[in-house]
This record gives sequence, structure tokens and C-alpha cells, in this order.
Amino acid sequence: MGPIKILVTSQKGGVGKSTLTANLAAYFAQFHRRQVALIDFDHQASSYHWIERVPVSGVTPVICDVVTERDPQLAVLKMKQALRAAERVSDIVFADLTWVNIFPQSLLLEFDLVLVPTSLSKVEMASTIEFVSRFAGVFNGAGERCPQLALVPSRLHRTQDYLDIFSQTNFPVKFGLTSPLPFDLDIQSLYGQDYIFNTPNPECRERFFQIGREIERTLQAIDRSREQEETASKVTPIWQNPKRRTGLGASVLDGFVFEQRSRARPAQTLQAQAQARVQAQVAAKAGAFESLMGMFRKRM
Ligand SMILES: Nc1ncnc2c1ncn2[C@@H]1O[C@H](COP(=O)(O)OP(=O)(O)OP(=O)(O)O)[C@@H](O)[C@H]1O
Ligand SMILES: [Mg+2]
Repeated sequence: MGPIKILVTSQKGGVGKSTLTANLAAYFAQFHRRQVALIDFDHQASSYHWIERVPVSGVTPVICDVVTERDPQLAVLKMKQALRAAERVSDIVFADLTWVNIFPQSLLLEFDLVLVPTSLSKVEMASTIEFVSRFAGVFNGAGERCPQLALVPSRLHRTQDYLDIFSQTNFPVKFGLTSPLPFDLDIQSLYGQDYIFNTPNPECRERFFQIGREIERTLQAIDRSREQEETASKVTPIWQNPKRRTGLGASVLDGFVFEQRSRARPAQTLQAQAQARVQAQVAAKAGAFESLMGMFRKRM
């Protein structure tokens, strides 16, 4: 099994991609002792410079500017080359990329997990919905190579009820939702200078660790499902393997998975799918979305 590859992307600028990429890369190297490669595909290379300026043992930053490349085939070739090189020296590869329309959707198949940061502003949510919907075929796909999608509520104001907003928005795509990262002046002032896990602000630290833990669990689930795929492919023809046929059973985040079919049924977990289904029905009836979140947090 090769390293897990995580793409942090959006088509909109300034949503928090580089903040998330640099901080998660540093987090996985420092707290999980992983060998991490961070490929910055953006012209400004903000996350590359962040790691260069504040080095963390175990993180190798790489620059590969493809966003300004006009020839799509060349852009994709450069990206694949950078990914192949990074794969050879790491357990986890993070890629920071502003998505532009010249990229083919097949590029997404290079990754195991796609993280899309988004605030709850109308403009940003509309852009996020349009973006992920365009690739619904990839994110809803049942193939073993299809990446999982997770949205990261980013720069949230503390009064915003993100669960309510996500549950009431119609996404035609299956996705996991991480805990939110609040809008915080401490986070803003750390930009390119230091990592969120080093801030003296305990709330910011804890919010960030929460996201890190959720993603760590997701990576473990991806590893497990890759192992199962490998074992299954040795002994079971594809048509006899219900998981492959249906795509069910694959977790997105170890928390909520929202599905297009069921706006009112918000939760599905890897470990306790049945239990979560019952709880979701109860919570949906009571309109108590938050109680589900409490349940989720207790397991963390
Ligand atoms: N949680 C947060 N709280 C406060 N400010 C934030 C937060 N996350 C990001 N920012 C700020 O928002 C701005 C944009 O963040 P960032 O560069 O990470 O976004 P981006 O999506 O990578 O942008 P670009 O498209 O330009 O590459 C930066 O000034 C950053 O400090
Ligand atoms: Mg950026």
C-alpha cells in the first residue's frame, strides 16, 4: 500500500486551504510521527513557504506551480510527477491546490481524501456546492479508487450553527463533515509564522486538534478499507464482494456522512452504523441535531 494522498482544494480563493494544509501536515508529522510530503501546487506557494519558515521534523515541502500552467495536459503531467516523487518518501501526501477549470476530474482519482474548506457565507457555500456537485460522479462513485470527500467548515463565527446549515442544504454528493475551525484573530496572526497547535489560545488549539483527530481516524479507516480491498481482491471476484459492488461500508469521516438521498437522516458512522441510524431518527424527530453531535464528540 502506498501513502495516503490528501488533496486540500476549492475553486475559490482565500477559504483557508493553505492554513489547513500547512497545519495538518505539521500536525501529522509532529503528533503522529508520520513522514509527510506537502506539495504546494499554487503559484503563491503559501503552505510551502510556511513549512520552510517554520520547519517541522518529518515534513518535506515541495513546490510545483501548476495553477498558472496553460496547457492542461502538461499541468496534469507535472502534478502526477510531483505526486509520484512525494509518494516515494512519505506515509502521507498533502496537496494544496486552487482548482481551476482546466483540470480534468480524473485528477481527483489520484487522491484518497479530498478536503474542501468552506465558510458558511452564501457566496462561499454556493461556490462549494457548485464545485463538489460538478464532481458528484467521482465522490459518489463506488469504485475502490474514488476519493472520499470531506468538507471543513472554516472561519466560522461562533454563533453560526453549521450543522443546521449543512443539514438544510441540498448537496447532491456524499460527504463527511469535520468539526469547524472558528474565525479567530490568533489563527489569522499565525499565518506563515507558526502552527495552530502552538498557540496559547486553548480553544483554537482544541478545535484544531479535534479536526486532526477526525482526519486521523479517517486515514485509519481508509487504511483498513485498502487492506480489505487487497485481501478481497486476492480471494474474491469483484461480483461476489458486496462492498465493492455497492460501495457501501466505506466510511467518509468517522463522524457524519450526509447523503443526497436523505437530508433528514444525517448520520452514519463506521463503527456503529445501526446505532447511529436509530439515534438519527430520534434526533431528526426532535429536531435535535446538536444531540447527535454530542454523541459523536463523546466517542472522540
Ligand atoms: N480560521 C481562521 N481564522 C481567521 N483567519 C483565517 C482562518 N483561516 C484562514 N484565515 C485567514 O484567511 C486568509 C486566507 O487563508 P489561506 O491563505 O489559508 O486561504 P487559501 O484558500 O489558501 O487562499 P488562496 O486561495 O489565496 O491560496 C489568511 O489571511 C488566513 O490567515
Ligand atoms: Mg493558499
